Amino acid sequence: MVQSASKNSTPSIPLFQFALDYFSLPSAIAMAVKVAPFVDVIEIGTPLCKAAGMAAVRAIREVCPDKLIVADLKTPDVGDLEAKMAFDAGADMMTVIGGAALATVELAVKMARQEGKEMLMELTGVRDILARAEEWKQVGVERMVYHRGWDEQTFDRQWQEEDKVIIRKLIDMGFKITVTGGITTELLPFFQDLPVSIIIAGRAIHQAADPAAAAGEFRAAIHRLWGAAQPALSGNNGAAQQNESKEILL
Ligand code: 5RP
Repeated sequence: MVQSASKNSTPSIPLFQFALDYFSLPSAIAMAVKVAPFVDVIEIGTPLCKAAGMAAVRAIREVCPDKLIVADLKTPDVGDLEAKMAFDAGADMMTVIGGAALATVELAVKMARQEGKEMLMELTGVRDILARAEEWKQVGVERMVYHRGWDEQTFDRQWQEEDKVIIRKLIDMGFKITVTGGITTELLPFFQDLPVSIIIAGRAIHQAADPAAAAGEFRAAIHRLWGAAQPALSGNNGAAQQNESKEILL
């Protein structure tokens, strides 16, 4: 069970989340099994949620029983029911899209609290992030995903200092921040001075020649850059560290 983020102190070393952005559930399951020992959190990506529905969350929960799981639904409406659907299928966290009405956000937050889980605001496409953040805080949002969207990347949108200024302000407001969007090991030092909670990589891992090795290197780089260098998760030691990751989020 993931408890309210307000009880957390932000972990000094961000958790590493791997995004399964797939259309095919069998391919996603095969990749999850390969990479799971080297990551802290597994994301059922939005395309997979749409292609395979909550069966994808159930299947990944079954093959990764000890991992934190995020259903990246990017919910636009019906916040409580979509959140419940994701939690019932085995997700620890789900996302609501930043353009959703405040009522949707509030209902998803309430459902997450009722179920002892988490909801995250997904900031893709939100222009007035800091103004909206004030409203979201009022209805109990504690976590956000700061995202350089795939399509923005297609149009050459780069990570910029301005992004870091906004992320820092959100952290100062008390939010726990996940960062994502074309993040590679080469880009990690750009974020190093930010106390973010979670870092997501998708294509940098599943498009690598050896995804398990890429995930191990990614997680080791996070540990090296954020301070306490630790070996990548593997074997029994991996299981112990996975439990530790769950506790970090509590
Ligand atoms: C797309 C997403 C992706 O899961 C996220 O961007 C991570 O993938 P990548 O590291 O390949 O950019 O939410 O909307």
